[in-house]
Amino acid sequence: MRADIQFVPVDVQVEKAEEKVFVVIDVLRATTTIIEALSNGCTDVIPVVTVDGAFDLAKKLPRKDTLIGGERGGLKVDGFDVGNSPREYTRDLVSAKRVILTTTNGTKALQSVAGCEHVLVAGFTNVQAVVQRCIALKADPVVVPAGGKGRFSLEDVVCGGMMVDLLGKEGAALTDSARASRILYKAFDRDLLEMAKSCEHGRELIRLGLEEDLAFCVQTNVSSSVPVFKKGSITLD
Ligand code: MLT
Repeated sequence: MRADIQFVPVDVQVEKAEEKVFVVIDVLRATTTIIEALSNGCTDVIPVVTVDGAFDLAKKLPRKDTLIGGERGGLKVDGFDVGNSPREYTRDLVSAKRVILTTTNGTKALQSVAGCEHVLVAGFTNVQAVVQRCIALKADPVVVPAGGKGRFSLEDVVCGGMMVDLLGKEGAALTDSARASRILYKAFDRDLLEMAKSCEHGRELIRLGLEEDLAFCVQTNVSSSVPVFKKGSITLD
């Protein structure tokens, strides 16, 4: 097994991706939100790239069983049921509901690997469970950090580095970028909350009054859920 990570979002050639498992990470906050929603009984999450796409899809689905969620500029979109804070996705709200989700970078990163055979959704909250699933799949993991509008995002690569560290301990060979992500993880592992508070998007969330989300998103291995993205929707299979 060989573990790899992208440092910035790059196009994936689906036809060359058969032997790989893509692991999409948007720690702040889309993938943490997806893990939390599914852990709390949501039936599935449909990631959509645009706000209009989310409203259009909602019109075709039974309204009482469907929530429209996500953000633009970090805040809930007018007319949506819920924003993109994982703390909002409680069992009371999401149990037995489908969530249509659109976020600035996270749902875009997911759609960039739509159609690949194996796509998993990870964050600090479920990293160990995702590593175990990668090993069970016997496919080469490629971590896909969502980044920020095409740019490097520290929190996603640090989380990817934690995953790489665990995969290395399980005997995976590491690419140069995977080794570099592990070095970054080791630089911050003693205080992930401080890392989250200091990174660009963390500072933006604090400015928006959403600091509590940071502590939520850096909780490590609190979930055994492994969301799988297949045929347009994300479920716990
Ligand atoms: C994104 O997809 O860019 C993020 O999840 C933004 C956010 O913090 O809501």
